[in-house]
Amino acid sequence: MPINSERHVRKLLNVKSIEKLGSLYVKIDLEKDSEFPPSKPGQYVMAMTRDSEEIPLSVFNHINGEISLLIKKVGYSSSKFFELNEGDKILIRGPYGNSFKTFNHRNILMVSGGSGLAPLHFLACKRRKLNLNQDILLGFKSLSETININSFKNHFKRIIYFTDNGSHGEKGVPTDKLGTFIETKRYSLVVASGPEEMLYKTWKICREKKINAQFSLERHIKCSLGLCGSCIIEGNGKAYRICVEGPVFSVKDLEGLEDFGKLKFDETGRKSPIT
Ligand SMILES: Cc1cc2nc3c(=O)[nH]c(=O)nc-3n(C[C@H](O)[C@H](O)[C@H](O)COP(=O)(O)OP(=O)(O)OC[C@H]3O[C@@H](n4cnc5c(N)ncnc54)[C@H](O)[C@@H]3O)c2cc1C
Ligand code: FES
Repeated sequence: MPINSERHVRKLLNVKSIEKLGSLYVKIDLEKDSEFPPSKPGQYVMAMTRDSEEIPLSVFNHINGEISLLIKKVGYSSSKFFELNEGDKILIRGPYGNSFKTFNHRNILMVSGGSGLAPLHFLACKRRKLNLNQDILLGFKSLSETININSFKNHFKRIIYFTDNGSHGEKGVPTDKLGTFIETKRYSLVVASGPEEMLYKTWKICREKKINAQFSLERHIKCSLGLCGSCIIEGNGKAYRICVEGPVFSVKDLEGLEDFGKLKFDETGRKSPIT
């Protein structure tokens, strides 16, 4: 996969609007900045508030120079984004990483878990503009974690919700029905983003059903420049730095990578099991 060699910049941008989506998610629209390079679906930025550490966030949308982010509250830094108000500033740098390659596919199936929705939403927006279609299997833990975004209806032909406890949509996880959806043969590509357990199951199903697929992976990103090694995924003599050679990988890229679905470097630099 080609390494993104495009220009990236560091800018202090104003929060234009902020919308809480349920108890766990916030959507932040940033004011237009014509100097910030255009980003592609799948790419991410490094973002920080005045009080947070810098964290990687996928681009949720980028239209007419305005970037939007979707942030799930998981720990210290992500929580700080919930305290922002209109007019506050966010320091962002990017865009980084590679992107999804889907524009020659008329019909695709997206598989999303939790905040993995962010890059898929951007991809769906771009594809709808080109009159290309997608369905999405959307997984959340429970009704209280579910996010409904008004624009969804315009971007997807079919939206199927899953919750672990069945409190919204079907009971279970998107991969429970993935094989059945692939067998309809309506899709030429599967695109997945979310928890690694879900990605690993999706990868196994796509490999077995011999369908093309692309996966957006997450690892601990510190530098985002390919220098520190904290985001490496490896195994069987292969290694990728998620920050520059990813975050998007094909079925074949992930073949034989022993870490996939099992291990990652944590913030202390130790390899630990993926939970
Ligand atoms: C390429 C990429 C794109 C992402 N896009 C989004 C997005 O669009 N929306 C969203 O809500 N989340 C996204 N994340 C995850 C987000 O970066 C983490 O949730 C965030 O860094 C957590 O920081 P924290 O201080 O709140 O939590 P902490 O308490 O510090 O950590 C909680 C967990 O978050 C993960 N994490 C912590 N720091 C990092 C880091 N620097 N890099 C990667 N993971 C980390 C670890 O698994 C950790 O166990 C993305 C991650 C990557 C790698
Ligand atoms: S985050 Fe430093 S090499 Fe990828």
